[in-house]
Amino acid sequence: MLSVEGLEVWFDVPGGELHAVQGVAFDLFPGERMGLVGESGCGKTTTILALMGLLPPSASVAGRVLLDGEDVLAKGEDSVSPHRWRDVAMVFQGAMNAFNPVKTVGSQIVEPMELHGVASGRAARNQAAELLEMVGISGSRADRYPHEFSGGMRQRAAIAMALACSPKVLLADEPTTALDVMVQAQILELLVRLTDDLGLAMILVTHDLPVVAQVCGRAAVMYAGKVAESGPIETLFHDPRHPYTRMLFQATPDLHGDDEVASIPGAPPRLDREVLGCPFHPRCDSAFSRCPVEEPRLREVGDNHTAACHLNDVPMQVAQ
Ligand SMILES: Nc1ncnc2c1ncn2[C@@H]1O[C@H](COP(=O)(O)OP(=O)(O)O)[C@@H](O)[C@H]1O
Ligand SMILES: [Mg+2]
Repeated sequence: MLSVEGLEVWFDVPGGELHAVQGVAFDLFPGERMGLVGESGCGKTTTILALMGLLPPSASVAGRVLLDGEDVLAKGEDSVSPHRWRDVAMVFQGAMNAFNPVKTVGSQIVEPMELHGVASGRAARNQAAELLEMVGISGSRADRYPHEFSGGMRQRAAIAMALACSPKVLLADEPTTALDVMVQAQILELLVRLTDDLGLAMILVTHDLPVVAQVCGRAAVMYAGKVAESGPIETLFHDPRHPYTRMLFQATPDLHGDDEVASIPGAPPRLDREVLGCPFHPRCDSAFSRCPVEEPRLREVGDNHTAACHLNDVPMQVAQ
């Protein structure tokens, strides 16, 4: 239903270009939940903003984003705007803190409906109340202000807002980051229930691979703007073919609610300069002579399973 092919995004930055997304490709099937995972700065948000046609003017984009076979990037804003919110909707990173403090939550859910001609007036207000009920908030709270909601409730309301125009695909960017563990679990449960009940496909973007494992059937792991590995969650867990995937599973997220994965030493490379060899090799516990000099290609390593790692080309004894 959604097919991303050779997606590239560059940002103009002082002194040159930053290549934030480098040949990303994946398919999303109807009703499917897929994770897009990787540490901060790997290009996850940029990827999904590109799908929505919401990148800033400093960005250039190449590649194709096919929605039911139609390339929504082909003619820029003209081709993407009919689909934005109506077919593909997004819960922005930090959405729960982005409500307008002087407008009621209900009126902010009504806004996208009126803007996109889905409903207006009383009908829209009724729908907003229904959407709130659907995400577990009493519809009577539609006339309350954001500060009267807890963080978890604001995140639920942000999800309701994304669903205002009945999209087929929901892109959820770090929807549980900065919430405490109990509330995180409730939001994940909500996303599973909503996608099941509405037949909605979802891309769950997070730095937390174990979170993806709870919710999604499949994931693409991103590193330094590229897909490092993708496959069914079970396969990624039991048979990871990229050391980054294995290390992400082993990494323990900071329990104090900080949004960073603490335990992989080092940091991803800067994307405003060219990276030689495998971008992960300086942090990799399995790197060998080929890794700093030759970039591994993403290739099939099993059923629906791709990875970009030289270890998949050499017999195990040699690699170890
Ligand atoms: N508007 C922008 N201008 C310049 N660089 C950006 C912009 N947005 C993101 N970047 C850069 O693009 C890279 C990917 O960022 P992002 O997509 O936000 O990663 P993630 O969501 O995985 O944390 C980072 O190096 C980031 O600094
Ligand atoms: Mg992000």
